Amino acid sequence: MPGSVRLRDCEVLRRITVRQAEEKRLYGAICAAPAVALMHWGLHKRKQITCHPAFMDKLPAFRAVKSNIQVSGELITSRGPGTSFEFALSFVEQLFGHDVALGLGGRLLLPTHCCQERKKEFNNVDWSLEHTPNVLIPIANGSEEMEVVMLVDILRRAKVNVTVASVEKSKRIIGSQNIKLMADSSITDSSKPIYDLIILPGGTAGVERFQKSRILKKLLQEQMKAGRIYGGICSSPIILHNQGLLKDKLATAHPAAIAKLTGNVAENSGVVIDGKVITGKGLCTVIDFSLAIITKLFGNGRARSVAEGIVFKYSGS
Ligand SMILES: *[C@@H]1O[C@H](CO)[C@@H](O)[C@H](O)[C@H]1NC(C)=O
Ligand SMILES: *[C@@H]1O[C@H](CO)[C@@H](O)[C@H](O)[C@H]1NC(C)=O
Repeated sequence: MPGSVRLRDCEVLRRITVRQAEEKRLYGAICAAPAVALMHWGLHKRKQITCHPAFMDKLPAFRAVKSNIQVSGELITSRGPGTSFEFALSFVEQLFGHDVALGLGGRLLLPTHCCQERKKEFNNVDWSLEHTPNVLIPIANGSEEMEVVMLVDILRRAKVNVTVASVEKSKRIIGSQNIKLMADSSITDSSKPIYDLIILPGGTAGVERFQKSRILKKLLQEQMKAGRIYGGICSSPIILHNQGLLKDKLATAHPAAIAKLTGNVAENSGVVIDGKVITGKGLCTVIDFSLAIITKLFGNGRARSVAEGIVFKYSGS
């Protein structure tokens, strides 16, 4: 919000969506949008729908269903950022069938597919700070955009000060699935302040670009020497490994990259914390990964309340 209100008030969008429904092609809405936009347009009629818990009371009681995904004819509705992977996969299922959706779900690393345990911590040390934590998230062309967006979104919801810095010449980067992202600054302009955490997103091509950044390398080395927190998800733990930042640490990475982590691998866990280093497997563990950071910085209470806001089942510490 107020994005859903802006969508609702767009007359062109209303016309397109109404025609879509009349001609019985697939359409959908998630989070506040089913209640705010679809209902306003009358597109909930004769349908069962769901939406974000905070908007459930706006739905007519006999239409409302409390489920993560509700398929009702051509309409699919869902609850929030934490259910968006399932929501996307349910369209894949409608379009290409159950097996394709299941296969893709496995490849995208739904937590239920990828790991025996969601989180494991070794050498537990305190991460809490006296001030608002400052976090640097570098991005490059080919970075896994969903990992970037989820990390930034969840950390900012928890009131972390996040700086997204491009290692490219341009602040505009193109993610691995061709989604355009705009960084807050370039890494050159962001290399002065001290960051409490530096977290690297994955994406194979993006990670190769990271390897070429001397500034990033220097920042990471300083981070380790000063005993500050750092980590990476998906294929980026490989850089940490290559730059000697995972020495004597247990870590995990994307299944396709994990063989390159020679040393102490905890491959059954989606998220691994060892002292002040955090690593994660990939896309569908990114929410667990982000919530694990929040738990370490602020405790369980804040992680739980952020998880509730995005409609995600939090597994606790
Ligand atoms: C990265 O993507 C941007 C577009 O956002 C493009 O202008 C730039 O040339 C790309 N850089 C490299 C090194 O491919
Ligand atoms: C957020 O982080 C940036 C970069 O470290 C810093 O310049 C800025 O002052 C911080 N803002 C707050 C409110 O701490």
